[in-house]
Amino acid sequence: MATRLSGLTTTESPFIEEAQASGQLYIQQPFELYSEENHLAWARLFERMQPRWELYANAWFLKGIESLCLDPNQVPRLEDVNRFLDPLTGFRAKAVSGYVPAFLFFDCLRNREFPTTITIRRSDRLDYLPEPDIFHDIAGHVPMHTDRAFADALVRFGDCAHTAAEIVNSISDETERIQRLTSIIQAMARFFWFTIEFGLMNSPKGLKVYGSGLLSSYGEIEHSIVSPKVQRYPLQLEWVINQSFEIDHFQPVLFWVESFDHLFDLVDRLEAWMRAGKLDNVAPGEPKLEEADLLSFLRISA
Ligand SMILES: [Fe+2]
Repeated sequence: MATRLSGLTTTESPFIEEAQASGQLYIQQPFELYSEENHLAWARLFERMQPRWELYANAWFLKGIESLCLDPNQVPRLEDVNRFLDPLTGFRAKAVSGYVPAFLFFDCLRNREFPTTITIRRSDRLDYLPEPDIFHDIAGHVPMHTDRAFADALVRFGDCAHTAAEIVNSISDETERIQRLTSIIQAMARFFWFTIEFGLMNSPKGLKVYGSGLLSSYGEIEHSIVSPKVQRYPLQLEWVINQSFEIDHFQPVLFWVESFDHLFDLVDRLEAWMRAGKLDNVAPGEPKLEEADLLSFLRISA
């Protein structure tokens, strides 16, 4: 009963705590547990983002969010989202109880599954929170997965994780294996951050947003496009893989791509550079990696 009353609120959900305590990463979405307050948070977030999406989001996002037929007034059911999403690109939202270690996360993308948080932030704290919630994942990420070119780039990124595992698991010296793996994951994480999470795209109407961290942030979506404090550059792979980032404030440096085909080509190049050893010594700095991220790559049998 306590679970029912507490709803599915970020960091306050007994259902999620129980799932984590029992080691369940992939879960069902217990829709009946969402409280009125949870639905209110969704409605408020959705309503205030709409005019900003119209102004700053890229055209494929706007088309995508329409084709998902999301209810502006209540937290979406993942099965409803998937009914519209799956026929378009084969992608599906897959409910998870919390953090997904890097290899598993990328491997899900390769299988056209998107690990999706089911909790939602409090309705009185709508602004950016460091951990993802269902608004970030479903309203920020999933509309992009309706576009075939974008979806293919994500799948290709998932392939890179397998290439990384193959490379590092063939190294017999343990110290070298960990050092190269750490550097490769850091390069991949930075690439993911500056594209999938915070990417901009060139368009005839100027720069538009396609990164989900921006698409789900009321303040930062506008800041990313209009603020003179943000430096915006065409994406250069050698820069992005060496660029640190911090997650607790608006991003001061952003990169743009020309198209999702361009993004796909960049992922291809990332993999080629990985095979050539060019990701083995990227600049130190953020993000710091969890041990679980490293282990997730090392436990893959060759
Ligand atoms: Fe995200």
